Amino acid sequence: MIPRASEHDGLRPRSHTCGQLRGQHAGQSVVLTGWVAKVRAHGGLHFVDLRDRYGVTQLVFRPDADKELYARAQKLRDEDCIGVAGVARDRRAGGGTPNPRLSTGDIEVDVRELTVFSTARDLPFVVADPPAAHEDTRLADRVLDLRRPTLRRNLLLRHRVNQTARRVLDKSGFVELETPTLIRYTPGGARNFLTPSRLVKGAFFALPESPQLFKQLFMVAGFDRYFQIAKCFRDEDLRGDRQPEFTQIDLEMSFVTREQVRQTAEELMAALFTEALGVELTRPFPVLTYDEAMRRFGTDKPDLRFGLEHVDLTEILRARDGGGVALFQKVLTEPDSIIKAMRVPARHALSRAALDRLEQAARQLGAAGLGRAKVTSDAWTQSPFAKTMTSQARQAVNQACDAQPGDVLLFQFGPADTAHQVLDVLRRRLAIEFGLVQPGDTTCWRPVWVVDFPLFEQGERPGQVVARHHPFTAPMPRDVDLLENNPLACRAQAYDLVLNGHEVGGGSIRIHDGALQQRVFRALAIDEAQQQEKFGFLLRAFRYGAPPHGGIALGVDRLCMLMTGSPSIRDVIAFPKTQRGTDLFTGAPAPVGRQQLKELHVEIVEDKKA
Ligand code: AMO
Repeated sequence: MIPRASEHDGLRPRSHTCGQLRGQHAGQSVVLTGWVAKVRAHGGLHFVDLRDRYGVTQLVFRPDADKELYARAQKLRDEDCIGVAGVARDRRAGGGTPNPRLSTGDIEVDVRELTVFSTARDLPFVVADPPAAHEDTRLADRVLDLRRPTLRRNLLLRHRVNQTARRVLDKSGFVELETPTLIRYTPGGARNFLTPSRLVKGAFFALPESPQLFKQLFMVAGFDRYFQIAKCFRDEDLRGDRQPEFTQIDLEMSFVTREQVRQTAEELMAALFTEALGVELTRPFPVLTYDEAMRRFGTDKPDLRFGLEHVDLTEILRARDGGGVALFQKVLTEPDSIIKAMRVPARHALSRAALDRLEQAARQLGAAGLGRAKVTSDAWTQSPFAKTMTSQARQAVNQACDAQPGDVLLFQFGPADTAHQVLDVLRRRLAIEFGLVQPGDTTCWRPVWVVDFPLFEQGERPGQVVARHHPFTAPMPRDVDLLENNPLACRAQAYDLVLNGHEVGGGSIRIHDGALQQRVFRALAIDEAQQQEKFGFLLRAFRYGAPPHGGIALGVDRLCMLMTGSPSIRDVIAFPKTQRGTDLFTGAPAPVGRQQLKELHVEIVEDKKA
């Protein structure tokens, strides 16, 4: 029986969703609601694909059954919102063929009644997967784009990720606590978005780059295990996997070691992948020290899905006087300079033109060039070092790189930062060119922990050190005595979770001991007055018995981007910002009126240069 219309609004409750009907429903009366995804006329009949969140069902309008209804159906246009009542039919019974690409492909609905809830006119683009329209066009009418099955699937996966995190963490005794969004500006880390206060003239709130300080305060308050699916705001330059507004699964724990925090994050990751993707991650995740990651991959977020590892040749060549090569000898006298190579196995053909393109890419990254050598059984060819390199050094390099005849060695030498970065970029680029990884692949998962990060890094001024993470990150116990005399050698109890070459999480054990905190502040040249001005509220709270604690935050957007194989982080965010940091759908940011600015005690100063 077709469900009856409600007395009040004439709306018939739907009997099924558009993804629900199967062969077994043939003969049943049904009511469906949704959007017109496609219309077509064929063999004197009018077909409409009806789409809702759950799927697509084919509707059929027959002129011989109801002429007037048939005429109305012919007026339907893409994206009209409609309801229909009719009878489910086996497609074969009506002389049609099943559609194996649709879960509802065995049936169609013979329509008897049609209600048009609202029409859609002048579509700016066709809702299609893959999309044909430019991304900016789609972002400007995001609601329409969100009807695309791919985006819907992405957001539904994101929902599953959030729900799983809540369930798993709740079960493990974590308490979901909220932290404020309008907070005091604390310097360091990313640039903050600021919000002027109306009530306090000339004062500003900052939007949190993460709930970091508040989650530590929850530990001092004794909550022991906190989590939050938290919005974070960072006014940074945007890249493919960055948004100015993003979400973290943020957690903090008291009385734990770094291994316990990592274990908790692994359990959470394993549950997310099982529940959202049906994938079992291999555990425990491998662990690399920061130094090893830099040496073997040139980056602190290595992609372990393929080889092409780097080999550090600095000490091998130092022991052999640079192998007699003047360029190497010079590098060996320079501080913070290294020599490293990447072996490209013979099975991956590298033409001279391809090598020239790689060299060009290296130069764009600041390299002086790209050293190369083709390995034969008793020499190097096509190499600027071939003539001068001693055979003893050549053999030592071949051995270190496990080079076989036919392989090509690519060299970088000079300042360590550039050498690492250039070979990292080339490694990832070659992996794609050689087909070792496919963009958007969701079948191979290689999580890895990167641990023992440096606590500090060189600041802009000579001799200045700055916190690499934040000033509350605990040093490694064995490095504490380096704080005063060699701070840059000091390692942190910090860890990053890296997945397929993306940093998907990061955290650390924090300092809970006031005396140690003062030593770190001294290393950072943050004096008492600055401490009070910048972090006074945190330091005050820490006086009342701070427990040992640590935590981690997983980037939900990045994780979902990887889990869905999306090319961009924007594909897993309902209303994302563009690379220029704007929201094309609502038109934010936008100017506000003079009166509003006045109330906020803000004045816009015209840029004279513009
Ligand atoms: P961190 O800054 O490493 O740590 O951030 C944690 C994770 O958040 C994600 N992420 C981003 N995702 C999208 N767009 C961005 N702009 C962006 N920035 C970061 C990354 C990253 O690994 N409070 C600390 C955590 C802690 O110490 O517990 C923090 O925010 O996936």
